[in-house]
Amino acid sequence: MLTAPFPYFGGKSRIAPLIWSRFGVVSNYVEPFCGSAAVLLARPEPFAESETINDRCGFISNFWRATSADSAEVAKFADWPVNENDHHARHAWIVAQTQDLQQRLEGNPNFFDARIAGYWLNGISAAIGRYGAGDGPWRSVAGKLSKMDRKCSPKQPGISRQIPKAGWGGIHARGPSSQTVRGSCDRWATHISETMQTLRDRLRRVKVCSGDWQRVLTPVFTTGKAKRGVTAVFLDPPYNASTDCDQHIYAVNDGDVSNDVRAWAIAHGDDPRFRLCLAGYEGEHELPDNWTCESWSASGGYSNKTGKNQNRHRERLWFSPHCLTG
Ligand SMILES: C[S@@+](CC[C@H](N)C(=O)[O-])C[C@H]1O[C@@H](n2cnc3c(N)ncnc32)[C@H](O)[C@@H]1O
Repeated sequence: MLTAPFPYFGGKSRIAPLIWSRFGVVSNYVEPFCGSAAVLLARPEPFAESETINDRCGFISNFWRATSADSAEVAKFADWPVNENDHHARHAWIVAQTQDLQQRLEGNPNFFDARIAGYWLNGISAAIGRYGAGDGPWRSVAGKLSKMDRKCSPKQPGISRQIPKAGWGGIHARGPSSQTVRGSCDRWATHISETMQTLRDRLRRVKVCSGDWQRVLTPVFTTGKAKRGVTAVFLDPPYNASTDCDQHIYAVNDGDVSNDVRAWAIAHGDDPRFRLCLAGYEGEHELPDNWTCESWSASGGYSNKTGKNQNRHRERLWFSPHCLTG
């Protein structure tokens, strides 16, 4: 199964096979809150037709766009040993690009920045979880990392100086290959480069969008074409502020968006052209009786560090009436 090269809080790779067993064969797939795109990447092959992923976070959109366009360059910038000074310096540099990055992504369909993508991949793989949010007190001022008196704001983002905790520098290595590439710069570089190439190939026919979730759920992306057939939509918004989940996990967080997502899901759930799956925590959503709910447990990785390890057992998936029974 293909997986993302970075760890991501709320990532769904563990449960993706179950999601696909309920979606079955569909001719169109949309993932409006893609993050690490774990569910897209786990899609059983072969498949045909259209796929769209989207995230409002510019780092993520830039990463997937840069990987599609120039995976070798992303691999080059990601391939760097874990070193605390580099980690902070790069982190401060990339969060300082946030505002500009979003504007450039939106203003130019051909724009991508492989250096930001590579640094971001290296950084998030070493940090595990919280990375790139831009709300820490440290900023680079005239080339020196300095602690600010005032809280950093989205317009003047900063970092927290958390020591990098994981990885060998580059990507979050998975599977047996991670054991075989230790200890050699060339083999490790090849491993990163090959991983990025595999992702580039997988993404060749995927539409990557960068913005609010609702933009990819219009008829143009879903049921608009008369002969399109069934559209599967995986809805995985940030956990609602009413749950006790950390609301500062993502660079882009909106603690209320899941209410609107649930309303959209209910409004479209009875349409036979849709198979929908909504992810959340136990008690976060109430769906009509003809929806089914599956409970599952996430891996303990990030929640172990926040002391909210119990939350990982509260994961739920709600499936709309036209999903397969599994
Ligand atoms: C729970 S995570 C998705 C995890 C993903 N399913 C995975 O397996 O990695 C939620 C994602 O929603 C994104 N997000 C937050 N608000 C958004 C919005 N209004 N529109 C689109 N994406 C948004 C965040 O940047 C984050 O990547």
